[in-house]
Amino acid sequence: MKGENDPLASFWMPFTANRAYKAQPRQLVSASGMYYQSADGRQILDGTSGLWCSNAGHCRAEIVEAITKTAATLDYAPTFQLGHPLPFELAQRLAALMPDGLDRIFFTNSGSESVDTALKIALAAQRARGQGTRTRLIGRERAYHGTGFGGISVGGLVNNRRAFGGGLPGTDHLRHTHDRDRNAFSRGFPQHGAELADDLQRLVDLHGTETIAAVIVEPMAGSTGVLIPPVGYLQRLRDICDHHGIILIFDEVITAFGRVGGATAASEWGVTPDIITMAKGLTNAAVPMGAVAVKRELHDVVIESVPGGIELFHGYTYSGHPLAAAAGLAALDVYEREGLFERARELGAYWEDAAHSLKVGRHVVDIRAIGLVAGIELEPRPGAPAARATEFFHAAFDNGLLIRATGDIIALSPPLIVEKAQIDEMFGKLAELVERID
Ligand SMILES: Cc1ncc(COP(=O)(O)O)c(C=O)c1O
Repeated sequence: MKGENDPLASFWMPFTANRAYKAQPRQLVSASGMYYQSADGRQILDGTSGLWCSNAGHCRAEIVEAITKTAATLDYAPTFQLGHPLPFELAQRLAALMPDGLDRIFFTNSGSESVDTALKIALAAQRARGQGTRTRLIGRERAYHGTGFGGISVGGLVNNRRAFGGGLPGTDHLRHTHDRDRNAFSRGFPQHGAELADDLQRLVDLHGTETIAAVIVEPMAGSTGVLIPPVGYLQRLRDICDHHGIILIFDEVITAFGRVGGATAASEWGVTPDIITMAKGLTNAAVPMGAVAVKRELHDVVIESVPGGIELFHGYTYSGHPLAAAAGLAALDVYEREGLFERARELGAYWEDAAHSLKVGRHVVDIRAIGLVAGIELEPRPGAPAARATEFFHAAFDNGLLIRATGDIIALSPPLIVEKAQIDEMFGKLAELVERID
C-alpha cells in the first residue's frame, strides 16, 4: 500500500515468523571476523557462520578486494554461448579439491539450485546411458535440500512441502538415521544404524531397479539438527548404488569447505559419490554462488549423447557470475593459506569435549559433535515443540551469542577461524542458559 510507513512491513522474510520478528526485530548491521555487530551496538559472537556459510569469518579483506575490483572491471558477462575467464579458473580450482573423478563443475547461485541441478543432471545422465526409465529420485526423511521443487520433493521435511502441492511425483525416501535410544551422546560417528542404508535395497525391490535414477543424502544432515551418519552407513549406500547403477549424490552445501575437516565430507570420510552439491562456503557467502561437481564419466555421457549443439538444456543467467567467481577464488585462497580445511580436524577433539560438557545440563537429551559442528538436543516442552530452543536462541542473542535453533535442537557451526577461547565462551554462555532456562 502506498504511503505505508512501517519500514519493516514490505520485506517478506524467508523461513521467519514475520509477525513475531517485526514486533521484536533483531538487526545485524556489520560484521568482522568472528563477530557481528547488532543495531543496538553490541558485539555478537557468531556461533553459526551466519547460516553455515561464512566459513573464513566475516568481511575478509582479500575477498572484499576481489569483489570490488571485479565489479569495476567486468560487472557481468553471460556464460550462455560466451564466456569470461573467472568461472573457468574457479572450476579448475574446485575440480582439484573434489574427490578423484569429480572434475566437471556446473555453477548455480544457491544450494537449492545446486540440488535441482544435480537431480536434473542425474536424470539426463541416466537417459544418455540408455536408462531412460530411471526417473525416480530417492531422498531421506528429515533431509533438507533447499526449497526448489526438486529439493522439497527429495527433502524429508513435511512443512516445506505441505503448502505447495506435496512436491514432485515419483520420489521416495529412506528412513532417517537419528536413533537416540541407541546412539544418544555418542562421540564421533554413532555406532548403530548402518543397516538403515538397506532401505535403499528395499526401495529397489519395491519399485524395480530400472525405475531409480538417483539417491541424494546429506553426508551429515545439518539443518535438521546435526545428524551424523552411523559408522558404515555411507559406504553401504555407495555399495548398493554401485550394485544397481543408481547415481549417488552427496548434498554438501553445508559440509563442503572445511566444516568437518577436508574440502568435502566425501574426502574426509572416504566415500566418493557421483555428484556433489555445494554453495555456502564456496564464496565465504560474500556473493551468492553454488556449484555441482560431477563425475567426468557422467558429464561425458551427457555431452556425447547428442551429435552437436547444446547438450544440457539447463543453466542460470548468473551461472559463473564474475563477482561470485572472483569471491570464490579469493575464498579458496584464504582457506588454503590459513589451512582452514584442516582446522576442524585440529580443533575437533577440543570442540567435542566442550560440546559434551553440556551433558549434565537440565533438559539436554543428546549431544552430537563432529568437525566444527555440534547439535545439542533439548527435551521439548510438553505441548510446545520448539519453544525451549527458541527461547535459547533469543536469550543467547541478548547475551552476545548467535546460535541456530531448529526444532528443539541448538546447532552450532562457527567460522573455522574460531579460537579455543571463543569455543569456551560459546559453551560457557550456553551452560548459563541451560541453568537458567526451564
Ligand atoms: C544440505 C543443504 N542443501 C541445500 C540447502 C539450500 O541452500 P540455499 O538456501 O542456498 O538454497 C541447504 C541450506 O541450508 C542445505 O543445508
